[in-house]
Amino acid sequence: MSPFLLTRTLPEDATDAALRADVLHGLTRCPKTLPPKWFYDAHGSELFEEITRLPEYYPTRAEREILIDRAEEIARVSGARTLIELGSGSSDKTRHLLDALPGLHSYVPVDVSESALRGAAETLLAQRTELSVHALIADFTGGLALPGTPGPRLVAFLGGTIGNLLPAERAVFLRSVRSLLSPGDALLLGTDLVKDEKVLVAAYDDAAGVTAEFDRNVLRVVNRELGADFDPADFEHVALWDPEREWIEMRLRARSALTVKIPALDLVVPFEAGEEMRTEVSAKFREEGVRAELAGAGLRLDQWWTDSGERFALSLATAV
Ligand SMILES: C[S@@+](CC[C@H](N)C(=O)[O-])C[C@H]1O[C@@H](n2cnc3c(N)ncnc32)[C@H](O)[C@@H]1O
Repeated sequence: MSPFLLTRTLPEDATDAALRADVLHGLTRCPKTLPPKWFYDAHGSELFEEITRLPEYYPTRAEREILIDRAEEIARVSGARTLIELGSGSSDKTRHLLDALPGLHSYVPVDVSESALRGAAETLLAQRTELSVHALIADFTGGLALPGTPGPRLVAFLGGTIGNLLPAERAVFLRSVRSLLSPGDALLLGTDLVKDEKVLVAAYDDAAGVTAEFDRNVLRVVNRELGADFDPADFEHVALWDPEREWIEMRLRARSALTVKIPALDLVVPFEAGEEMRTEVSAKFREEGVRAELAGAGLRLDQWWTDSGERFALSLATAV
């Protein structure tokens, strides 16, 4: 039986305090916002997996294509003995890397979703009895305390999740990733690319309405954790392309004027009819922008690979 360890670096009360702080801050400002990490309870993680299989949601297929094409090259160049994956979710695409890394000793998936980490570990360990998996329940935007596993280490951040951070947050995040890297370590970064608006909007507003349910899931999380009385049906899912910032915004639009009570915060939140609350940004990138953001954090872009449709890119970067 292979070793499996699950470490919670986020105490339950810290999660609770962070949710309270985010909801209080986000729902008392104008325009209202909620950060995307709160989508991912067990139901939200399942909905995200469903999204990855939708015909409109090309990023997962495009990134998988690159991983299949480049896994051996990534393995050769990195020589990784430890693979650390931030925001690992189901780790489904990761198996292409795991299969290609011959000397891999440890896999360290990091996620806020305990259910996603447990599900991923169960699937992986059923197939790879020799792998040591040390899963971390942690917020990748906080200081990460990584286990002492052998180097070289490859830090993977896939799925275009970096696009969910605002530019200033990305700068802080990339500097924190840089501080995790020792000489010989590398970062593998997945970024979705700027493309036709119709293709982008459809990826975040699918015909079957799965992304709309995912968007509204944050309201269910706030109801359950803070005793709020959001009726998800009162909110319409909206996906918009912002051509200046080059990001998609997901919003929830109130169908009518309403008020929501959040007893745990002693808060009553009024919404006007048609008022929109931002729940996610998903920035889209160009090669020069990625190179510049990496350089700003002390990282050098060594490889830039795209899928055959040039929809998505994987970058390999090392510390300068
Ligand atoms: C867009 S999904 C991508 C999942 C997977 N990497 C993929 O490529 O399919 C984002 C993942 O990051 C996790 N996540 C979001 N914000 C996080 C945070 N601040 N810290 C740790 N994990 C986070 C979510 O739970 C989810 O599993």
